[in-house]
Amino acid sequence: MNFTFEALGIDTIGALVVFAGEKLSLSNSAKMVDDATNGALSKAAKTAKFKGKRGSMLMMLAPVGIDASRVLLVGTGDMQKITTLALNNLGAGIIAKLQTSGETTLHIAFDDMQSADVPSGEAAARIAEGALLRNYRFDKYRTKEPKSKKPTVAAITVATSAAKEAEKHFAVFNAVAEGVFLTRDLVSEPANILYPKSFAERIQALSVDGVEVEVLGEAEMTKLGMGSLLSVGQGSERESQLAIMRWNGGKKGDQPIAFVGKGVTFDTGGISIKPASGMEQMKWDMGGAGTVVGLMKALAGRKAKVNVVAIVGLVENMPSGNASRPGDVVTSMSGQTIEVINTDAEGRLVLADALWYCQDRYAPKFMIDLATLTGAIIVTLGNEHAGIFTDDDAIASRLSASGDEVGDKVWRLPLHDDYDKRINCDIADMSNMGSPAGAGSITAAQFLKRFTNDTPWCHMDVAGTVWSNKNLPLSEKGGTGFGVRLLNHFVEENYEG
Ligand code: BES
Ligand code: MN
Ligand code: ZN
Repeated sequence: MNFTFEALGIDTIGALVVFAGEKLSLSNSAKMVDDATNGALSKAAKTAKFKGKRGSMLMMLAPVGIDASRVLLVGTGDMQKITTLALNNLGAGIIAKLQTSGETTLHIAFDDMQSADVPSGEAAARIAEGALLRNYRFDKYRTKEPKSKKPTVAAITVATSAAKEAEKHFAVFNAVAEGVFLTRDLVSEPANILYPKSFAERIQALSVDGVEVEVLGEAEMTKLGMGSLLSVGQGSERESQLAIMRWNGGKKGDQPIAFVGKGVTFDTGGISIKPASGMEQMKWDMGGAGTVVGLMKALAGRKAKVNVVAIVGLVENMPSGNASRPGDVVTSMSGQTIEVINTDAEGRLVLADALWYCQDRYAPKFMIDLATLTGAIIVTLGNEHAGIFTDDDAIASRLSASGDEVGDKVWRLPLHDDYDKRINCDIADMSNMGSPAGAGSITAAQFLKRFTNDTPWCHMDVAGTVWSNKNLPLSEKGGTGFGVRLLNHFVEENYEG
C-alpha cells in the first residue's frame, strides 16, 4: 500500500472519502461534494438517517456532478474528543469497507477536520496508520482465492494542511507497523513451517535492521544447565533454540531493559496430551516470542534511543518415546528443581530458564515476559484484555496507560505469597502446577517469579489476545500483533532519552 499526504481538491477520480461530525455537520469537502452533486449527499444522509456518529458510514455510488466513482461519507463524532486510537479506527474502517471494492485509489479528504488534542499532521498520519494496520492479510497459502475477494486498493492519499508533519509521523508509524506485521506473520505460520530453527532464522534476519542476534542450540543450553527449557523440547525431532536479540540505541553502558518471550512453536501438551479439537490453535503458542521479535523490529525500525535485550525460548512440545513424563524432576539453570506434574504446563518451564539467563547475563533494569501461558486467563479476561502480573506499581500503571492509548488493553491481577505456596511440592523445590486447582494464571505467574532473582519484572499472559477468531478494528481475524504497539509506546513514553 502506498500512502501520500497532500492537499486535495474534490476533482478527483477513484473513491473520495469525506467526513461529517456530530449532528451531520459536513466538513468543507463534504459540503463541496454536496454542492457539486446538487444536494445528493445530504439527501442521502437524511434518507439513511446518517448523523455523523463516530465510525458510521454512508456510501454514495456513481455520484452525478463529480469525477469520483464513489463518495464514502464517514462520521467522526465529536472532533473535540477524538483520540489517536479513534483516528486509527476511522482509517481502519475506511479500508475495511473499500479494500475489495474494485477501487484502486482512495482519497481521504481530512484536511479541514480540526481536533482539540491531535495536531492536523499527526491526525492525518493516524488515519493512515489505522488503514495500514487493518489492510494486512496473511494470504500466502491461498492459491485459489477468487479475484472478487482480493484487495484492490493500492494507494491512499490523505489530504492534510500539514503534509510534512504527517509524513514525519507516518514514517515512524510505518516502522512500528512493520514490527506488527512480522509478529502477525510469525503467529500465523503453521508449525510445519515455523519450528525452533526456522523461527531462529527469521530472527537472524533482523540483523539487517541493526539488531544483534545470537542463537544458542541444545549443546550450549545443556552447558548452561537449562534443564527446565530443554525438558520441554526433548520429545521433539526439532532442536530447541534460545535466541537473543540486542538493540543498542541508547547510551553506551546504559542498563538495558529486557523482554522475554515464550516460543512454543507447537504445543500438543506432550504426554499430558491435549484433546484433538482445537489443537491446531497451538501453532500460535509462540505468540509471546512473536510479539517480542516484532517489538524488536519496531524499535530498531524507528531507531529507538534505548538499550534493549530480548530473549525468546523456542521449543516444540511433542509426545514421543523421548518426551518428558509427568513426575519427572528437572533442574533449572537457577539450580532450583521442578517436578513436572503436567507436561502441558510447559510455557513456564521454558520461561524459567529464559528469565534466569536474562537477569544473570544482562542485569537489566527490568524484565517483561510475554506468554500464551494459560487457558485460565481467557476464562478470566476473555479476549479483550491481556493479564499483567507485577509487584512494580509504576510498570503496571505505565503498561496500562500505554495499552489504553493504542488499544492493546491489559488488566492487572494479583501476586501474593499465599498463591506462591500452591506450587510447593514434596519431592522438588516446586511443581509446575498449582495445587489445589484454581487461580491457574496466578500460580503460573508465581512460578515465573521464582526465576526472576528479584529483578523488577512483569509477566503478561497474552493467551487470549494474540489471536482473534473475529475481525477487530485494527486487524482481520487471525494474528493480531497484540503487544507490539503497546510495548513500543511504553518504551517510547518512559525509557528513551
Ligand atoms: N499454551 C497453553 C495455554 C493456552 C491455552 C494458550 C489456550 C492459548 C489458548 C499452555 O501451555 C497450557 O497448556 N496451559 C495449561 C496449564 C495447565 C496444564 C496447568 C492450561 O491452561 O490448561
Ligand atoms: Mn501447554
Ligand atoms: Zn503452551
